[in-house]
Amino acid sequence: MRVPFGTITIAPRSIELINESLRSQRLSSGALVQQFEEKFAQLVGVKEAVAVSTGTAADEIMTTVLHDLGARYGDEIIVPALTFVSSANAVLHAGFKPVFVDVDQSTFCVDPEKIEAVITPKTRAIMAVNLMGKMADYEKIYDIANQYHLYVLEDAAESHMAKYKGRLAGSLGLLGAFSTYIAHQISTGPQGGVITTNNPELAEICRSLRQHGRNCACHSCLLNKDPGAYCAKRFAPGYDIRFTYNRIGYSAKMGEFEAALGLGSLDNLDTVVEKRYQNLKYLMENWSQFSKYLWTLQESPYEVMGAHAFAIILNKDAPFTRDEFSTYLEQHGVETRVIFPTIPLTKAYRNIGYSNQAFPVSQYLSDYGIHIGCHQNLEREHLDYILTVVAEFIRCH
Ligand SMILES: Cc1ncc(COP(=O)(O)O)c(C=O)c1O
Repeated sequence: MRVPFGTITIAPRSIELINESLRSQRLSSGALVQQFEEKFAQLVGVKEAVAVSTGTAADEIMTTVLHDLGARYGDEIIVPALTFVSSANAVLHAGFKPVFVDVDQSTFCVDPEKIEAVITPKTRAIMAVNLMGKMADYEKIYDIANQYHLYVLEDAAESHMAKYKGRLAGSLGLLGAFSTYIAHQISTGPQGGVITTNNPELAEICRSLRQHGRNCACHSCLLNKDPGAYCAKRFAPGYDIRFTYNRIGYSAKMGEFEAALGLGSLDNLDTVVEKRYQNLKYLMENWSQFSKYLWTLQESPYEVMGAHAFAIILNKDAPFTRDEFSTYLEQHGVETRVIFPTIPLTKAYRNIGYSNQAFPVSQYLSDYGIHIGCHQNLEREHLDYILTVVAEFIRCH
């Protein structure tokens, strides 16, 4: 049996919308992107959603907005040591310095107890990342942020539809950043991302930043929907606002095909979310039989976890290595991914100068963790198969 890590469900409506878009030759960001943004904002329960080319671009733009709020090049942003590399790269690309903090073993998210120690007069924001569908502890994060006048940014790439104290992921930070890459619950296909916020002025800045920082500030560009239209705001003597720039931005628009896939994905979302959540719960509930050697995340009373993937961590005294375990799963058709490396200790970040001992929890999860799929195309027989393969592996050790 094969148990792939990720999957995409393409709705018939997406195919119709893509065909319509091809027939109309309207391929760049237009009416479908706007519809997708409106539905996404409604879903997350925020005023605004800004669709962009990737989750990485969402992280970059969300962080770059801080320049409009008074941050200066070289200021510091607190980032968890364990995350996908984009979260930290975005801070550097936006012109800030990432300051890393270890994660909490029970959440895989930034450990609020360790934040205060790294705050300096240059700290401007805390970027919380909801890793593996687990929500960061926002109450504690805001206690610190409020005390030190810091902004809270939320990387929600891996937490679609997760809830913290009744609020959906993407509504907890000043700005939230989603990836809508194939394997996520809401998907726009091979790439895509969305920034969410309750602040329309910040949404406007994000719309400017996704198009090179241009001066145009309309919620939705008339010209993007009707290429024959005339925009009265566009020309003033000596310039065209589409080619004047207020800030240093990115080339990060979402196109109509991605929005078409996203709209179909939203139509189907309830079914996908329910199926994935039930798959995650089934694996979590049946995992205690392996507790001598392996453990997984648990849902906390304050949250509903997002069913991004299923994390498996080896106890340090397990009589087998992480590689032996994941090789066995792969050989039996169960696709695996490692948990991310500890970002500040990767070659790319070495020159910042952190010691190998600075992030013990992150390092443990990086060295001893893997994750596997719990997606909507996995049936009960796939899940039982995973449990059987793991039981068989453990029986041999
Ligand atoms: C936590 C986190 N942040 C950012 C990203 C970047 O998203 P993308 O791959 O769409 O650029 C990812 C990837 O899914 C992620 O897991």
